[in-house]
Amino acid sequence: MQGSKTDRRTFVKTSGTLLAGSTLGFQVLTSKNQRFYNNSDTLKVGLIGCGGRGSGAALQATRADDNVLLTAMADLFPDNLQKSLENLQKENPSKVQVPKENQFLGFDAYKKLLATDVDVVILATPPCFRPGHLEAAVAAGKHIFTEKPVAVDAPGVRKVIEVANQAKAKGLALMSGFCWRHDDPKRATFSRILDGDIGDINSIYNTYNTGNVWYHEPQAGWSKFEEMMRNWIYRSWMSGDHIVEQAIHSLDMMSWAMGDVLPIKATGTGGRQSRTGEEYGNVYDHFAVTYEYPNGARGFHFSRQQEGCSRAYGLEITGTKGRCDIDVWNRHEITGKKNWKWEGEGKDMYQNEHDELFASIRSGKPFFDGVRMANSTMLAIWGRMAAYTGKTLTWDEALNSQEVLGPTLDEYHWDMTWPLAPVPQPGKTPFV
Ligand SMILES: NC(=O)c1ccc[n+]([C@@H]2O[C@H](COP(=O)([O-])OP(=O)(O)OC[C@H]3O[C@@H](n4cnc5c(N)ncnc54)[C@H](O)[C@@H]3O)[C@@H](O)[C@H]2O)c1
Repeated sequence: MQGSKTDRRTFVKTSGTLLAGSTLGFQVLTSKNQRFYNNSDTLKVGLIGCGGRGSGAALQATRADDNVLLTAMADLFPDNLQKSLENLQKENPSKVQVPKENQFLGFDAYKKLLATDVDVVILATPPCFRPGHLEAAVAAGKHIFTEKPVAVDAPGVRKVIEVANQAKAKGLALMSGFCWRHDDPKRATFSRILDGDIGDINSIYNTYNTGNVWYHEPQAGWSKFEEMMRNWIYRSWMSGDHIVEQAIHSLDMMSWAMGDVLPIKATGTGGRQSRTGEEYGNVYDHFAVTYEYPNGARGFHFSRQQEGCSRAYGLEITGTKGRCDIDVWNRHEITGKKNWKWEGEGKDMYQNEHDELFASIRSGKPFFDGVRMANSTMLAIWGRMAAYTGKTLTWDEALNSQEVLGPTLDEYHWDMTWPLAPVPQPGKTPFV
């Protein structure tokens, strides 16, 4: 049943375009590719960024479809790649077939992986690499699962919007790791909100308040640059700071509740009080941002990574007919004119992501959330800019910011240095 490699890959790459195209295109699709619907051809997957999330996503990909193989992996560091490979081989031995020649290391590992015959790539490096990796993956004609955030600065978001549109035009699947969008309880809850069960929304208080996150102690033989690359979350140019890297999930849900309408203004503040050591680079440990919507509604965001403080991760949404309380893991409840609460079980949202991604590729209707993922990323970058500068910023000002935080993909090499920007001070740090 295996068609020639060219036939198979051409179909996988162009399936969406064919479906969306002419009658002739549809005939070509149905006659030539019947085998895809029978699930008898192999979709090959490549993983770029073999850390915690990338390894999880790769496992979910191998479980998403009977005929998926992980065939290529790329990372900066050999230990990360090997650990990931060993774990994946233990978990799903028959579906993890990554020969030595398909294990790539270093800053150009992504290029080598994209040059293999993988059909689908998972992008799960630190966010600073994402716009460049996305651009290269779309140019190579691969279907994509990309982790959030998809950029760390506004020029990166603008690039991602451009590249996402190219992916759509090419009929490539492009799914982002805004995982709550694939969570059964959230879907049940947000669909009720969007159906008007709590009326018109007045305010959304959303949180991501957690404690300290991981830190890798420097090891003998690590250069300063390697130490920085391994502890990327503490450099705003690499992670975008924790409002962009982590609390973005709450902002994405705020946006979901508002029907993905964009706010018009953001005002914020933040700082670092409890995580002040040099090892923590230049990121903040708390943010508070108010977003103003065109209809007058307000989104109030509060996030912190401070040990020993009360934790919260959820949303309190108030509308003209009721309210909705979400504690992401424990509670999804609407009270008011229409009382309701989620009482089901729900499937693993990360598995849902990949089940839906691969089913969409098989069906010839590739999943696409390219513009939404860019907007949700921008929402968080905008909040960070408002907090860092202390200035109220409009969406247009934020999206057109000229601030570039880090090097371009081709500038990376092992002997490089990159200056650590001073910790921003609201009122003093300029908006660029
Ligand atoms: N959706 C979610 O729930 C969720 C959860 C965790 C992380 N994430 C996101 O996933 C991404 C990865 O996070 P993580 O927790 O897995 O981090 P991690 O540090 O565990 O993994 C990152 C991996 O990328 C590798 N890497 C770094 N630069 C690279 C490059 N240029 N080319 C190839 N490999 C490179 C690192 O060596 C490391 O193995 C981040 O964007 C993060 O925000 C999403």
